[in-house]
Amino acid sequence: MTPPTEDTIAQLTAEGSVTYSTEELRDMRDRFQRFLMEYQFGLREVETKLSILKDEFLQVHDYNPIEHVTSRVKSPDGIVEKVIRKGVDPDFDSIREHITDIAGVRVTCSFVPDAYQMFDLLTQQDDITVRTVKDYIATPKPNGYKSLHVIVEVPVFLSSGRVEVPVEVQFRTIAMDFWASLEHKIYYKYAGAVP
Ligand code: GTP
Ligand code: MG
Repeated sequence: MTPPTEDTIAQLTAEGSVTYSTEELRDMRDRFQRFLMEYQFGLREVETKLSILKDEFLQVHDYNPIEHVTSRVKSPDGIVEKVIRKGVDPDFDSIREHITDIAGVRVTCSFVPDAYQMFDLLTQQDDITVRTVKDYIATPKPNGYKSLHVIVEVPVFLSSGRVEVPVEVQFRTIAMDFWASLEHKIYYKYAGAVP
């Protein structure tokens, strides 16, 4: 199939309500990529902080409280799905304000006190702003889900200046992580109707 030209796009949308030129589409793509890039940088800052804490903790206390750290930027599909599900206005400013898990980091620790300690050591850093905390370890969800969730804002320095990037950090133990992955699979396997 040949790629759409300005004319074919205009034709395809002739019966719809919106028409974009290829230049407008390119511009939208560039703005979306720049939007996502900020979250990628925010992730890097948080990952660096965690990796410093891990290395220093091992050196000073001869103990490694972190089993592993994973991170992801939400996919464009995932963002669109959540914008629709939460009824958020589809513009960058309201997405930035209302979708706070575009950048996500998961810190899997060995034991429960390690999860709380890593949470404290990260959130006490003076360039980190804590937006919300949900402690599903102290109060598990009805389905049994446990994790300590925090939305933090981390500064990122761009050529245009400083921006505060929201990052969702989930602290959990290996046991909680094991349970959450299986629960997630079971939920999707049974399409929500888990026997
Ligand atoms: P979303 O669930 O992301 O729409 O936001 P929320 O406001 O409900 O936030 P919450 O802190 O409850 O959940 C955020 C994230 O935690 C989810 O995207 C999942 O990664 C994880 N999570 C929350 N609840 C569950 C659960 O019951 N099972 C599993 N496997 N993961 C969960
Ligand atoms: Mg949820």
